[in-house]
Amino acid sequence: MKLTPNQQAMLDGQQGWPLQIAMRMLTAVGRALDAPDLIPVTSTHLVIDGTALGEAGRDFLERLVAEGGRFTIPASINAIAVDRTKQDMTKEERDQIRMLEACEKMGALPSCSCNPFIQGIQPGFGEHVAWSESATAPYVNSVLGARTNREGATAVASALTGLTPRCGMHVDENRHGKMLIQVDADITGADRYSLLGALAGRLAGDRIPVLDGVGKTPSIDEYVAFGAAFAIHGSVAMFHMSGITPEAPSLAIAFGVNAVPGPVIIDDHTLEAERLETAGGDAGPVDVVSIGCPHASIDQMRAAATMVGRSGGAKTGDTVFYIHTNRSTFDTADGEGLIDILTGAGARVTADNCSVVSYDRVTAGARLATNSAKMALFAKSVSDAEILFGSTEKCIEAGLTGVWKD
Ligand code: F3S
Repeated sequence: MKLTPNQQAMLDGQQGWPLQIAMRMLTAVGRALDAPDLIPVTSTHLVIDGTALGEAGRDFLERLVAEGGRFTIPASINAIAVDRTKQDMTKEERDQIRMLEACEKMGALPSCSCNPFIQGIQPGFGEHVAWSESATAPYVNSVLGARTNREGATAVASALTGLTPRCGMHVDENRHGKMLIQVDADITGADRYSLLGALAGRLAGDRIPVLDGVGKTPSIDEYVAFGAAFAIHGSVAMFHMSGITPEAPSLAIAFGVNAVPGPVIIDDHTLEAERLETAGGDAGPVDVVSIGCPHASIDQMRAAATMVGRSGGAKTGDTVFYIHTNRSTFDTADGEGLIDILTGAGARVTADNCSVVSYDRVTAGARLATNSAKMALFAKSVSDAEILFGSTEKCIEAGLTGVWKD
């Protein structure tokens, strides 16, 4: 890779260990992906989930601080594995807080959310950024028109150096569509967009799909639901919606130099098949309800409180009814009296973490109801949960009654 003299000095260790280790990470990834050089980025989003990083991650982040590492660009933080306000934390939970504090000492914003967009953290069109958390990349690239790869630990290296390898989604020609999905179904609501995202992600694999026929512009919540499921079921960091997303004003522009291929059709039948694939469980008792994946927006919190109010009663039975969100949305909801309504009915509103990014995960084999295809896949894989899948309203009903109805 071609490096500037300053970048070479960082790599040689002349500017300290944190920048040297960061440059080693970036140049190793860049070489593996045939990047010709490094380009500046304007922000990063960091995953520091303690259940994945463990003590090694804690030690690494704390050593960066001790050796003078400082973030040179804005850095936000993904969901962490514990609610920051929890009392009597375990050692692992305290370690997670130490990781967060290390990042804060280097200059990170403790946003602690997998949905930073609803906190106003949104790169602009054409900006090059380096964001980790798979669910954020499709939104950044496709909806905002900013540019990021699906970063991992390299996001910390980008935070320290303000650089990323020039490859993948940072290169114009790589952002064109390669497959066409014709949507012949009415898609409304987070659960339907989540199913559509899961199916589109799996069909697309490593090809950027262009969806035609979506009709209306999705809401932010619908985009986020789509992107999270799309990312976890596929491997690309971008999609287009013809006539809707900013780099796809038409099919021809979305495909760029690539020929427009014949379409793969998604209709109500294929979506119902996807729902059945997502949800193995039948009607009956529910152990856990988990909504707010990715973290619920204030609109979703208001809607949940309205639905709880409409159903007119407190929770019955032992079902654990989670609504996940971030701290700033929690505080806004608290100010509007929504937290009192939701917790008064028996829901547990969590901030910072969720039922699977947590040291206190869903019990193995539990029957879990959700409106998120991403939560469904995670709960299956980390807790071997039996999944029930449906609309937010249906999940709330199950949370209050303890029963999933067909
Ligand atoms: Fe966020 Fe947890 Fe879902 S981190 S994307 S709520 S699995």
